[in-house]
Amino acid sequence: MNKQHKICIVGMGEFSDFFIPLFRDHPDVAEVSIADIMMDRCIAAGKKHGISRMFSSLEDFLLNGKDIDCVAIFTQRQLHGSMVIDCLKAGKHVYSAVPMATSEEDIAKIIELVKETRLTYMAGETCYYFPCAIFCREQYRKGTFGKFVYGEAQYYHDMATFYYAFAASGGKDWKRVAGIPPMYYGTHSTSMILSAIDEHVKKVSCMGYRDNHEDGVFGAGKNNWDNPFSNETALMEMSGGGIARINEFRRAGIPHKPSSYITCFYGDKCGYEGSVTQHVFIKGTASGVNDTRIDYVSDLLNTNTYTKLKNENAFDINTYPISEPAHRGFAPIHDVERLPLAFRSCPDTVHYNSHPFLVDDFMRAVVSGKLPPNNAWDSARYTLPGLAAHLSAMKGGIPMEVSDYGDAPADWEKLTFEKKDYYEILK
Ligand SMILES: NC(=O)c1ccc[n+]([C@@H]2O[C@H](COP(=O)([O-])OP(=O)(O)OC[C@H]3O[C@@H](n4cnc5c(N)ncnc54)[C@H](O)[C@@H]3O)[C@@H](O)[C@H]2O)c1
Repeated sequence: MNKQHKICIVGMGEFSDFFIPLFRDHPDVAEVSIADIMMDRCIAAGKKHGISRMFSSLEDFLLNGKDIDCVAIFTQRQLHGSMVIDCLKAGKHVYSAVPMATSEEDIAKIIELVKETRLTYMAGETCYYFPCAIFCREQYRKGTFGKFVYGEAQYYHDMATFYYAFAASGGKDWKRVAGIPPMYYGTHSTSMILSAIDEHVKKVSCMGYRDNHEDGVFGAGKNNWDNPFSNETALMEMSGGGIARINEFRRAGIPHKPSSYITCFYGDKCGYEGSVTQHVFIKGTASGVNDTRIDYVSDLLNTNTYTKLKNENAFDINTYPISEPAHRGFAPIHDVERLPLAFRSCPDTVHYNSHPFLVDDFMRAVVSGKLPPNNAWDSARYTLPGLAAHLSAMKGGIPMEVSDYGDAPADWEKLTFEKKDYYEILK
């Protein structure tokens, strides 16, 4: 039997609530403890999920949780880098919500520590398991797309709908954090393209929408980064020569659709296009190829719940916000059979039920010593383009070089799963 591991989940805000039961129910986890500087949140979460061991902060956990070998960080987005570094230095395996960090120095340090210690570091990149990203990754790796030439991905989250959460965790100074540069949180978008093509971004040019909204979140002096932009649009040049257009929008009136998605992903042999719940795979469009065919892959990529509902006469799109069934739950393309039994029938939840896959990846990596997807090297490649992009936007869009920390060590075996090709089965 595998050794069972203990994990402390740090940050009892909105997001960790989804993960506490998953870590608790994973077969390789012996004990879950929780930590927050807001003790009332710890007590409420402990009561809800049946957890009795608690720490009053990350620092308290590092001091008094010496018997615990794993940590999952769910603190505010600007805090991750230094917390991950402290945890790795203390010998813990680290799962961290995205982003990896908000400075290149922290990213470099995390890579150095992981390389030196061979501890598991994994970013909880939910979009890695979004159906459109899985589809593009699988088909790209099989060679169906040919060479990547162009893609568009985005994360649209109007932060005004989320200010209450910043205020609840941040107190009177919450606006200083809510105004974080959108591109500092660019990993949902970049990961969907980069994890498919296995390349890195070489150069980026970015423009920002200067936000003068009366809520006073964006602008010089108004937030910790003097960030004037609520929306940022970047063009990224990949190491293989292809181009990606990445949008990170924090003020856009487009609710009721999945927030992160790939609009298009083109190779020199064929292309994928997606719009809300319509997904098409266009083959044979390259010049000189005359057997053009379009596969409608919506039922493969949409959630099972959405597909069931849309076929029911009673489903009224005007009264049922489309984003709900469209991004809650598993889709047929998900490899649910690789999950521990306890996770296979988990309730439909946000982010296309990516959470159980991430928790399972992390625990299997810890148990096996193998390198998980979204490891330190992958995460650096998802995160660094956004840091350079914001710098470019601040300088009026001038192109910026993006640092690269290379591939993970070749002798570190990767965690992989045998998976049925559901696209082939469906055809
Ligand atoms: N799709 C996704 O991947 C996704 C979705 C939502 C949130 N997130 C990320 O998850 C993280 C958490 O988001 P959230 O909405 O729950 O945030 P939140 O503000 O609701 O909660 C953060 C919690 O961390 C606690 N905290 C801060 N410093 C601490 C310390 N030193 N020790 C212990 N606890 C500390 C705070 O008190 C707060 O309760 C963020 O980084 C966010 O970016 C990712």
